[in-house]
Amino acid sequence: MKIEGMLKDQALKDKTILITGGGTGLGKSMGKYFMQLGANLIIASRKEDVLEDTAAELMRETGGKVLPVGCDVRNYDQIQGVIEKGIEFFGKIDGLVNNAAGNFVSPTERLSHRAFDIVVDIVLKGSYNTTLALGKRWIKDNTPGVILNIVATYAWTGSGYVVPSACSKAGVLALTRSLAVEWAKYNIRSNAIAPGPFPTEGAWSRLLPGNLKDQFMPQENVPVGRMGEHQELANLAAYLMSDYSSFMNGEVVTIDGGEWLKGAGEFNHLDRVTPEMWDSLASMRKKS
Ligand code: HXC
Ligand code: NAP
Repeated sequence: MKIEGMLKDQALKDKTILITGGGTGLGKSMGKYFMQLGANLIIASRKEDVLEDTAAELMRETGGKVLPVGCDVRNYDQIQGVIEKGIEFFGKIDGLVNNAAGNFVSPTERLSHRAFDIVVDIVLKGSYNTTLALGKRWIKDNTPGVILNIVATYAWTGSGYVVPSACSKAGVLALTRSLAVEWAKYNIRSNAIAPGPFPTEGAWSRLLPGNLKDQFMPQENVPVGRMGEHQELANLAAYLMSDYSSFMNGEVVTIDGGEWLKGAGEFNHLDRVTPEMWDSLASMRKKS
């Protein structure tokens, strides 16, 4: 199945969107589609060489403009620097995608307090740093803004073995819903996306390290029987960043093929019962 772009041409025309972690993975895929819809991008993360390569590639492929700016989202001053450079270059920033993340799998009792900190600092502190810095600027300049936070379904279910990430994504979801109400009066909307498994080098190498990737097939837990395609996520993200979603505020949209509900439903494990077993249960019921 080839998934195509879904929004009208130029749906993001003249919008400038800041994507943290926009040099790789899902951030890059969302950014590419935003540009195909007419947006300019600011991409910000730690590895400047990766950002430069992605910026060159996206500009070549789409004909749009990308400003790559090196920064660590844990550092508020560096985030302010990104915003200043972005406004100087493009004149304004219309939207923010909090996409940068750090994660790894580990039994929680094996984590050092520094390891716990590092994930919380990137995911939760990084997201509130960018939100606070850009939000203050939007409010001061009386400019509208749109925020999209990339969370995970374990923001509300919790999950073992990724506990610092689960705690952080829960905090980011609370940030989304809280500011959706508080900042609506400033014409700033906040929404979130909770993706299920979408293959990326960054996530896969850290969540299925070594031979774990041969033992666990993420798609086996997905009722629709496959992983997500980046364009599917990009379509949803572009809608949430566009004016078409002006009445969406404080929402978290799950795009996971039904994965988290499969884990939650009390009788969902009965999908292991074969048709023959159902036949035999039916005939036992009829006899009795
Ligand atoms: C246990 C670990 C560890 C691991 C690092 N640490 N990796 N502990 N298991 N696998 C510990 C270290 O021992 C150290 O603690 C502390 O964490 C800091 O480690 P550093 O290597 O110094 O940190 P750094 O180089 O800054 O790396 C940060 C990182 C790294 C988070 C560890 O993975 C990273 O940069 N990731 C960015 C990209 C990423 O993770 N993308 C995936 C997002 S996927 P001590 O005590 O020894 O000092 C995602 C998907 C969600 O979020 C849902 C999927 C369905
Ligand atoms: P990824 O390619 O590893 O993306 C993570 C990005 O965050 C990288 O570009 C990284 O760039 C940046 N980053 C990490 N630490 C940073 C820091 N301190 N400051 C600035 N940038 C930092 O992984 P991905 O799969 O695309 O993940 C993107 C988002 O989707 C994340 O929020 C993740 O939690 C979420 N998500 C992914 C999946 C999935 O299946 N892929 C599922 C659910 C949720 P640098 O290394 O250059 O800093």
